[in-house]
Amino acid sequence: MKKRRLLWLPLLLMVTLISGCGQSNDGGSKDVLEIGTDAAYPPFEKQKGNGEITGFDVDIIKAIAKAEGLKVHVQHTGWDPLFEAVKRGKVDAGISAMTINPERQKKFDFSKPYFDAKQTILLPKSSKIKRLKELKGKKIGVQSGTTGEAVVQKTFGKTYQGLKGYEDTPGAIDDLYNGRVDAVVADDGVVKDYLKNRMKNQFQMVEDPSFEPEYYGIIVKKGNKELLDKINAGLKKIQSNGTYDEIYTQYFGEKK
Ligand code: ARG
Repeated sequence: MKKRRLLWLPLLLMVTLISGCGQSNDGGSKDVLEIGTDAAYPPFEKQKGNGEITGFDVDIIKAIAKAEGLKVHVQHTGWDPLFEAVKRGKVDAGISAMTINPERQKKFDFSKPYFDAKQTILLPKSSKIKRLKELKGKKIGVQSGTTGEAVVQKTFGKTYQGLKGYEDTPGAIDDLYNGRVDAVVADDGVVKDYLKNRMKNQFQMVEDPSFEPEYYGIIVKKGNKELLDKINAGLKKIQSNGTYDEIYTQYFGEKK
């Protein structure tokens, strides 16, 4: 009996050690940063068939980490769970084409902005709509909990019947494709990518001039200044040494 118990001891030790490694502390002092993202937002983040996560955001966070002598591991958390994961320290930071806004700033600390964006409307090519408000009474697909959802709610009210929320943006776009919604509101970079890659003959992107400019930032748990400082320092480095521009050009072409 005693012997058997002793046998378990090294195993227990190993398990404790291994699970301890995966656990995040407050960041900063670790060599491998765990990064969360909703990897369904090309070209910013997507998951390949083999599970590998790639995209503009992934290259940016890797470059930032490298500039600071850190390594990163990026995991797909999904969109809503990403916020929770950062809050609970399951990941050290989140990069996910995430717009900096006052509501989120109350709960998380954001890096300096690293990308400019705006909301756009994805519509069938035949549509003559020029402004979001002209879509009154129509079904509009958005990813729940995004700024795309926020602009629709701002225009038509929080309980607008035509608002259809999806867990991810591809879900909303699929439903536009199948005619279950009349339009999708999402970030310009993503909509352009869809048009470029598979939908350009049937769909168009409409820019509503009333939409506010947005800026993407990287989030960390509120108060994690050590990690935030590193991220900002790394971002500054890659912006001044040409790395940022190199990555940018690779995904979006020459900067205007
Ligand atoms: N920029 C928008 C927001 O912050 C949409 C971001 C969605 N990102 C994603 N990876 N699904 O609300």
